[in-house]
Amino acid sequence: MVRVGLLGCGNVAEVVAGKENGIDIVALYDLDTKRAKYLSEISGAPAFEKFEDFLACDMDIVVEAASVGAVCANAEAILKSGRDMVILSVGALADPDFKRKLIKLAEENNCKVRIPSGAVIGLDNLKIGQISPMSELKLRTTKNPRSLKLDVTERTLVFSGRADECIKKFPKNINVAIALETAGGRPVEVELWADPAVTRNTHEIFAKGDFGDIYMKIENNPCPQNPATSYLAALSIITLLKNLGKSIIIGT
Ligand SMILES: NC(=O)c1ccc[n+]([C@@H]2O[C@H](COP(=O)([O-])OP(=O)(O)OC[C@H]3O[C@@H](n4cnc5c(N)ncnc54)[C@H](O)[C@@H]3O)[C@@H](O)[C@H]2O)c1
Repeated sequence: MVRVGLLGCGNVAEVVAGKENGIDIVALYDLDTKRAKYLSEISGAPAFEKFEDFLACDMDIVVEAASVGAVCANAEAILKSGRDMVILSVGALADPDFKRKLIKLAEENNCKVRIPSGAVIGLDNLKIGQISPMSELKLRTTKNPRSLKLDVTERTLVFSGRADECIKKFPKNINVAIALETAGGRPVEVELWADPAVTRNTHEIFAKGDFGDIYMKIENNPCPQNPATSYLAALSIITLLKNLGKSIIIGT
C-alpha cells in the first residue's frame, strides 16, 4: 500500500485519515499545528511543525488538501523530492506558468501530479476535449452565501466570466472550474450563484462538441462531521489512492 503524507489537516484530510478507510498515513503537516496534532491522534501518524521535516519522511505520495497557497509554496519541493502529488486545491494550476513549471518538474523527477475529481464527477470523460475540441464548456455553481462569505438574501449571480478570474476572487470555492479546464483542455465559462435557499453545493456542467451534448448536475452532501466541505471531494481522494495499485484502470 502507498505511504501517504497529508499536506493540510482540515475537513477533507480528516475524512481521508479515518481509520476505516485503511489508508497508510505516515506524516502530517498543517500550518495550524493544533489541526495536525488532532489528526495525529486520529491516524496515529506523526505531525510535523516544519514542512522540511514532513517531506523528509519515508512516503510515496503527498496528498494536498490545504489551500491554493499551500500548492504554490510547496509543490515544487515535493516534486523535486521525486514524490507523486495529489492536488485538491487545483485552482493553483490557473496560473499557466506555474502549471508548466510543475509539469516540467514532474517530468524531470519521474513523478506525477494527480488531480482527483474533487467535488464533481466526469473529469475523465471531459478529457475527450483534448482530442476533439469542445465548442462549449461551462460550469454553473450554486452555494449558500455563507460558504462564499457573502450576505445576500435572494438568489444572486455573484460572478460570471472566465474560471481563471473567478478563482482569484473565490480561491476556496471554485477549484472545480480549474479542474474542468485542465481536463477539457479549454477555458471554462463560470457562473457562480449565491442562494440562501440551498443547503448543498451544486455544480452543473454543460459541454458541447462533435460527440454531442453533456449535462451533469452534482448536488453535494456535506461531510458528516464538517458541513463546509463536500463529502464527494474527500471520497474522490480515497478512491484515487485505493486505485493506484489496481491492474484494471477504469476511466483513466
Ligand atoms: N477540487 C475540488 O473539487 C475541491 C473540493 C473541496 C475542497 N477543495 C479544496 O481543498 C482544500 C482543502 O479543503 P478543506 O475543506 O479540507 O479545507 P479546510 O479549510 O477544512 O482545511 C484546510 C487545512 O489546510 C491548512 N492549510 C492551509 N494553507 C496551508 C499551508 N500553506 N500549509 C499548510 N497547511 C495549510 C489549514 O490550516 C487547514 O487546517 C481547500 O483548498 C479547498 O478549496 C477542492
